[in-house]
Amino acid sequence: MQKSILITGASTGIGRALAFEFSPRGYALGLCARRMELLESLRDELGGETQVAIARLDVAELESVPEVLHKLADELGGVQIVIANAGVGERSYPGEGTFHLDRKVIEINVLGAMATIDAGAEILKKEGGGQIVGISSVAGFRGLSSTPAYSASKAALSTYMEGIRNHLKKHEIAVTVLNPGFIDTQINTHRRSRPFLISAEKGARLMADMIKKKFGPPPFRFCLGL
Ligand SMILES: NC(=O)c1ccc[n+]([C@@H]2O[C@H](COP(=O)([O-])OP(=O)(O)OC[C@H]3O[C@@H](n4cnc5c(N)ncnc54)[C@H](OP(=O)(O)O)[C@@H]3O)[C@@H](O)[C@H]2O)c1
Repeated sequence: MQKSILITGASTGIGRALAFEFSPRGYALGLCARRMELLESLRDELGGETQVAIARLDVAELESVPEVLHKLADELGGVQIVIANAGVGERSYPGEGTFHLDRKVIEINVLGAMATIDAGAEILKKEGGGQIVGISSVAGFRGLSSTPAYSASKAALSTYMEGIRNHLKKHEIAVTVLNPGFIDTQINTHRRSRPFLISAEKGARLMADMIKKKFGPPPFRFCLGL
């Protein structure tokens, strides 16, 4: 039976690179993001041999997340891996009149990811098991002064995923938290310094290998570039 993966935030960057990485590994792909035109071109670029289902999804529209993910899973005839990848980074500091940016980061990176995981767990329970992957970040290990809300969002995602691991294990669902360092994507191109930068292609290859190994709980969290 062909295996399938759902990836949120697949229109650019890591999500897009993961689609190119998993396609030749024989997976069918359920890809979602807000920009449908990018997903349509990605589907074309992936070629006819890979079964690809696409859908518009704004993970901050929390109520729509289960409906969209269930629809993609149905279209693919089942799903074994769900990757909560959609995320944003914003520079914002207290007292600067930019709290709306902090709110956006938390809504997308924390609540949007949790809604993805919640719907993903429901889908995988029906499948009798599978794997949920969260793309967290080394930025979540400490409160970075350059992006405090982003750091907080990734710490929250990692901690949440740590907390659900034992519960989901009972349902044969593995939980994998990946913590990349700098990967060359639109989220960080504005930064003056990007230490230990790697390409999205290399990052996706390393992450796909870690996903395959069902990389487990801390201290074995996956770190890139550190
Ligand atoms: N690049 C790095 O160095 C790095 C390091 C550690 C972790 N990460 C994490 O990796 C993930 C992917 O980021 P990236 O580096 O690939 O950046 P990116 O190129 O900016 O990609 C972000 C993706 O998330 C999607 N997205 C943003 N807001 C969304 C929303 N409200 N609903 C649904 N999709 C949304 C975007 O698609 P649309 O705009 O079309 O919706 C896009 O596909 C993020 O969670 C990021 O925090 C990145």
